[in-house]
Amino acid sequence: MNMMQHLQVPNRDVENAFTSLKKNNLLAEGKLIYPSIDGKFRLIPLSENLPKNLPKELSKYEVIYAKYKLDNRIDPNWLTHLSVLINNDDFEKFLQLWPASHEFVGDMMIIKLDKKILQFSSQIAKAKLMAHPNLRLILSDQGVMGELRIRELIPIAVRHKNIIISENIPNELCNTKVTVKESGLQIICDPTKAYFSTKLQTERQETLSFAKELRHMLGRKINLCDPFCGVGPAISSLLHEPDLVNNLLSSDLNPEAIKLLFENLTKWDKKPYPSEASEVEWIYPNRLVGAGDVAELVTNREYLGRWDMILINLPHRTLELLPLIIPLLDTSSPSLIRGRIVVEEKDIDITNKIIQEILPNCIPDKPKPKLTIKRDYSSKLRLCSFEAWLK
Ligand SMILES: C[S@@+](CC[C@H](N)C(=O)[O-])C[C@H]1O[C@@H](n2cnc3c(N)ncnc32)[C@H](O)[C@@H]1O
Repeated sequence: MNMMQHLQVPNRDVENAFTSLKKNNLLAEGKLIYPSIDGKFRLIPLSENLPKNLPKELSKYEVIYAKYKLDNRIDPNWLTHLSVLINNDDFEKFLQLWPASHEFVGDMMIIKLDKKILQFSSQIAKAKLMAHPNLRLILSDQGVMGELRIRELIPIAVRHKNIIISENIPNELCNTKVTVKESGLQIICDPTKAYFSTKLQTERQETLSFAKELRHMLGRKINLCDPFCGVGPAISSLLHEPDLVNNLLSSDLNPEAIKLLFENLTKWDKKPYPSEASEVEWIYPNRLVGAGDVAELVTNREYLGRWDMILINLPHRTLELLPLIIPLLDTSSPSLIRGRIVVEEKDIDITNKIIQEILPNCIPDKPKPKLTIKRDYSSKLRLCSFEAWLK
């Protein structure tokens, strides 16, 4: 039965009683106040942490056990909820710092908090959960770390059976492996184990249209190579497109990413893949997949000279790795390298020159590779993309 403690208050006293309960943090979250059967009282839902003795001004009312009613009139403006959870002075003082952006990953929300407002993490997370009734977990993003580009994510609040927990969150409620829907496709990811960003969706759609252009140019299916594939989001829509991909090489240094990639490929290819990560190997005659360093991959002669399109998405090391991956290309017909790179805005022209020197054999009627700014990476750095059409 959906029962909880309510304060039974005569109709005329409701406003005062409500104000006192709110001031003392004794209101239940997300539940409605409703009239008693005889209509003489209002039943106000009470918090689970009720003290033994109610404040003096409330002690004259009876606490009864009654069915609770959920409040479905959720206010989508999270700041309204936050303003109730913290005192007015703090709310106004940090107005400019409350996080304006967030990233939804499945039923999780990832937010970045300025260190000046870290003390309010739990109230911020609560307010976000109150504003978004379908969210389960709020994670605070401490940035992308190390070679594997994994985000350091700290759970700051979880919704469990309609209750919001923001302190001592049990580990078993912090599952971060979720399925994300993108362009009608499902991608399994776990941002605490392998790099994944929903912000690259438009980039991935552009990659699909370049792949189709290359197919048109070649007059056949393309052989696709993604040696920094993560959990495989960049290849998902390409594999879904009928008659686009022939052979696929998909690998990553991070075995956890490959484990998730295998789960994804099992769905996308509709055939089984191993349940644990393994080294790069032919899993099927047209699928070369596994965990491995790109530097080692290119030492295997069997893998060289056979790919029409290469994706290079390791933006801090692109210039260094570009020469290394060139031998993977099939140079007997046109090919395409699609890359991302992080550079200072002032260095864009010089970087364009360097890329053009590394990749001199461009198709004459295609533009030379040139960086397009996609978004700010920091105050000085820009995240850019480029395409190099090679003959
Ligand atoms: C920015 S992430 C991109 C992942 C994926 N392509 C995507 O769009 O979600 C870069 C990936 O490169 C992998 N990586 C880093 N160094 C590598 C190396 N030396 N060889 C192969 N993969 C590497 C990381 O593990 C990470 O998954």
